[in-house]
Amino acid sequence: MWFPCCYLVLLITLINVSLSFTAEKESEDPPRYCGIARPNPTVKKKAKGAEETAPHEFPWIVKIYHNKTFKCAGSLISDEYILTAASCVTSLKPGASTKPVRLRGSNLRNTEKRPPTEFVLEFGAHAFKETYENIVRRFGVEVLLYPNYDTFDIQKTVMQTNDIALIRVKPIVFNKKMYPICLPKPKAKIREHSNLLISGWSSRVYDLLKKPLDPSKNLMKSEVTKISFPSCKKHEKASMFLDPLYQLTKNEVFCLTGKNNFDGCTSDYGGPAMVKSSGDYYHLAGIASWRSNCATNGNPSFYAQVTKFLDFILASTKNSKFLPSKDDRSRNEF
Ligand SMILES: *[C@@H]1O[C@H](CO)[C@@H](O)[C@H](O)[C@H]1NC(C)=O
Repeated sequence: MWFPCCYLVLLITLINVSLSFTAEKESEDPPRYCGIARPNPTVKKKAKGAEETAPHEFPWIVKIYHNKTFKCAGSLISDEYILTAASCVTSLKPGASTKPVRLRGSNLRNTEKRPPTEFVLEFGAHAFKETYENIVRRFGVEVLLYPNYDTFDIQKTVMQTNDIALIRVKPIVFNKKMYPICLPKPKAKIREHSNLLISGWSSRVYDLLKKPLDPSKNLMKSEVTKISFPSCKKHEKASMFLDPLYQLTKNEVFCLTGKNNFDGCTSDYGGPAMVKSSGDYYHLAGIASWRSNCATNGNPSFYAQVTKFLDFILASTKNSKFLPSKDDRSRNEF
């Protein structure tokens, strides 16, 4: 026989359990919007403009391994697709010419996609060597290459045009450590001299007297500035590549420069250049494509301009699940 008091105790216990369950559930709720960074005020700025990210500050940044070797970074844009650079997922065909396509006099592609199953994608990582329980891993299922991608050598330097590709994986379930960045609106423009954030396992302050240690221990971020195409063209390290002969136009690429050696490096390739919108969320403005040197003051680096490739991206990803942006709930939904 139960006494009334015990019923009461039981009732209170039940209410408590259900309350804590609700609270727990709320914090674990799947994110509703794309591109919301997760700031963590406990992480101290190491230097003005460049620093280590808070763990999972940019939950869309994905690590791409090829044959078990770290290859590139990428950005999660939906539950199935990672946007990265074409140079991260291709190899030069045996015997292919390394002249630009226009100099080859044909449109024959000199590269081929690597098989998707050679890629493993790692979601939810903060450390470069992340422990298994912290991450989700997926094999590539499909590699989609932008049709006019080209790679070629000019004066022994490898150059890329239309450097965009998608990797598809089996759908991942969004949680606070992994959800997509917003795509830009078709007419989004990046103003000259505006600041963007780049992030990857490189981006940071470089000490030029020491060799850059690449990759970094944890995910880094760096503030960089967009420079105009004409001033990028004037730069001795960039001018020869911006000849129209090589198909690089201001529609397709834009240049960013770091200040005081805040910069990215090779482990950032394929990773995002992000713009914060007025609604306080990030969209993916550029994909790290190419640079001549890491960490030389004012040395421009090249980013594929995502708006130029939006048609390809949207057509290729039609049936996957996106998250809407905070100020436009209808766009990108399913
Ligand atoms: C990657 O692995 C595949 C399958 O084992 C192999 O055929 C290919 O040559 C490897 N590629 C590189 C660049 O190591």
